[in-house]
Amino acid sequence: MAEDRPESLNPLEASSQPDEDLVATLPTREGWSTPLTLYDNCWLRSHMVGKLMLVRENFKPRPDDIILATHPKCGTTWLKSLAFTISSRSRHTFADHPLLTTNPQHVVPFIGVAGTGGDLDHLDALPSPRLLSTHLPLSLLPPAIATVGCRVVYICREPKDAFVSRWHFDNKIGTGAPISLEDAFDLFCQGCTPFGPFWDHYLQYWKESLARPHEVMFLRYEEIVSDPLKVVRALACFLGVPFTEEEEKSGLAEQIVGFCSFESLRNLNANKAAAGIERAGGKIFLEASSLFRKGKVGDWVNHMSKDMGEKMDRLVEDKFKPSGLEF
Ligand code: A3P
Repeated sequence: MAEDRPESLNPLEASSQPDEDLVATLPTREGWSTPLTLYDNCWLRSHMVGKLMLVRENFKPRPDDIILATHPKCGTTWLKSLAFTISSRSRHTFADHPLLTTNPQHVVPFIGVAGTGGDLDHLDALPSPRLLSTHLPLSLLPPAIATVGCRVVYICREPKDAFVSRWHFDNKIGTGAPISLEDAFDLFCQGCTPFGPFWDHYLQYWKESLARPHEVMFLRYEEIVSDPLKVVRALACFLGVPFTEEEEKSGLAEQIVGFCSFESLRNLNANKAAAGIERAGGKIFLEASSLFRKGKVGDWVNHMSKDMGEKMDRLVEDKFKPSGLEF
């Protein structure tokens, strides 16, 4: 996978450079695989704050953009695979498909993250329509996202499973001492995780999806697991490329579900450990295989105590009940 690289410098645009003085004043916490810094109520990996804080001012959304917005460990890899395969199906057959040789994270760039092809200058140069992704909360994206008419697909996940996935992942990508489940749980419940607090993240997109249902599609990992075909059809409609009668007759929607399934993607060479590592600024070491662990609903019971489960359920009820969002 590609190595993170410096974004191009443009001396004419002062605001396209991170304000390092400001970054140095922000609160920082240790515990996860890298330190996290709190910027505008969102915990970001400290080595990425400078670049990510530029996105709100400098990313220029277009009316025909499609943005896959996800909370980490909630199904980003899966959603990228599905949305990419659905929207590019006129260009690729399953025999010559980019996902056969490329990790799904790399077929859809992360806005503002250079190592994934998401450096802002590069995004400006991409032809429309663009399929993009982000882990940023809505509050750190340009307000124009809500007015230019671009579409957003959001995915979240039952928080106990998202937490267990986060804990495993962080211990795989980190280079220092592993974080214990208990310490990770405390941080998670305080909202201190990459792109957290998770409740603010989920709620911002939830409320936006209620306000603008035709432009913001809200998904849960669990609903794709329970009926992937239904979600794939809904996603195709939402992306503006519904399956034709002929495609339905040929079983294309079912084939996409199978092609993007956990088993199918995990077994590709591009997604095995040997496929390489991504050195995000030398801070984390991400093997392609780390993105494919178990892919199950309810795995939290195999790791968290009953007390932890109950504590998290109370937190979730407290945070989400007034909004109507349930898990
Ligand atoms: P687990 O750790 O519970 O197995 P993200 O892509 O946002 O980082 O989320 C990672 C989670 O999605 C991991 O969950 C991973 O195994 C799961 N996952 C990745 N690809 C998947 C797929 N094609 N189908 C179902 N789950 C998938």
